[in-house]
Amino acid sequence: MLILGIETSCDETGIALYHSERGLLAHALHTQMAMHEEYGGVVPELASRDHIRRVLPRIRWVRREDGAALTDIDAVAYTQGPGLAGALLVGTSVANALAFTLGIPALGIHHLEGHLLSPLLASNPPRFPFVALLVSGGHTQLMRVGAVGAYELLGETVDDAAGEAFDKTAHLLGLGYPGGPALAQLAGQGRAGKYKLPRPMLEQMHRTGNLDFSFSGLKTAVQLLVRQRLRPQGVVGASLRPERSPLGGLANPAVDGKLRPQGDVGASLRPERSPPGELANLAAGGQPDAADKADIAASFQEAIVDVLVAKSLYALEQTGLNQLVVAGGVGANRRLRERLDRETAEQGLSVFYPEFEFCTDNGAMIALAGALRLGAELRNDTSGALRLGAALRDNPSGALGVQGATIPAQDSPARTYAFTVKPRWDLSTSV
Ligand code: KG4
Ligand code: ZN
Repeated sequence: MLILGIETSCDETGIALYHSERGLLAHALHTQMAMHEEYGGVVPELASRDHIRRVLPRIRWVRREDGAALTDIDAVAYTQGPGLAGALLVGTSVANALAFTLGIPALGIHHLEGHLLSPLLASNPPRFPFVALLVSGGHTQLMRVGAVGAYELLGETVDDAAGEAFDKTAHLLGLGYPGGPALAQLAGQGRAGKYKLPRPMLEQMHRTGNLDFSFSGLKTAVQLLVRQRLRPQGVVGASLRPERSPLGGLANPAVDGKLRPQGDVGASLRPERSPPGELANLAAGGQPDAADKADIAASFQEAIVDVLVAKSLYALEQTGLNQLVVAGGVGANRRLRERLDRETAEQGLSVFYPEFEFCTDNGAMIALAGALRLGAELRNDTSGALRLGAALRDNPSGALGVQGATIPAQDSPARTYAFTVKPRWDLSTSV
């Protein structure tokens, strides 16, 4: 079976061809990082428009690379959500148009399922069952993975995701976008023991076995530390200027442009309630000196890594499993990998990561998830009826829900083309 994978949930256009027997045949990725950098975060409208430009050339490219004709493709897998509504709609439309024209299934894939299964693309993959630590810009979850489609949530963040905490803290330190890799790089030059930052919910885990995470307090602790260590530098800092939108008004959440209700981001980064002198320092771009910033970055990274490692090991103990899979953008963090490698080895456990290139968003993981779902006969086949449009539902968080009209296709039962724009939902629940 030859599967075309399409990922357009946020700021990367990922396209891949995956064969159920021959493995990954070709993949192409375009990152919009440079485009969004100027605004300090993802601008959803720009993201959608860019996906439109990038999808078709990359589909042509992967086909040429493998020599496959369009008619060789057996199914199209695409990211159905969670993600940015307009961005998801691009991938969904292309996938369903292709599937409709070719008379093949279109499979809507949960973005996190793609991340979760991405270590199976490696040459030495884990075997089911395993525990997965999903650490991305929008999610932090521990799951028990029994098989494709059998996911049990063990714990998740109650506030910021790990990647979001990296990004927001990087923003506080005046680092660019995306913040995670920049902060990790700076942390490499600092002393992790210099500042003692909180390890949120660790003590609770030891007391009650709770595997949830919380990272917003850690970010606040860094914010306080930065204020204490302020040095006015007389240069207007990019980190604290209001986020600009090319479309007028304030941009969408600058640091986590990943579908958080507007207004809950940024606020925490602004120096509200600061004494006037400190405010003036911040407004003038005051920052701790370079060595101090590196120490803060290293201390922050160590705190997050401590929590992620401890909870992952505890999840293995609780489930009695001996394989840990790490997926999502933060899985690229070297310090996290070093610590997990060492501590799992000490306990006779194994840890698996996706290749670096498949840690962040990509089409290969979506194509793979599609192939595995087809193989396991688990279909979220959306090519049954045509549903158009998305509308705001009465959702207090401002989340978007899907509403559709069913239009019978010629000579066939009604076809459903769905994209799902709920900001976040459990893998274990259906969309
Ligand atoms: O999985 P991903 O590409 O997108 C989402 O689905 O969210 O993850 C992106 C997140 C961002 O928050 C980014 O800052 C973080 O992963 N990230 C890192 C590193 N590389 C990417 N965080 C820490 N260290 C890294 N090396
Ligand atoms: Zn992702």
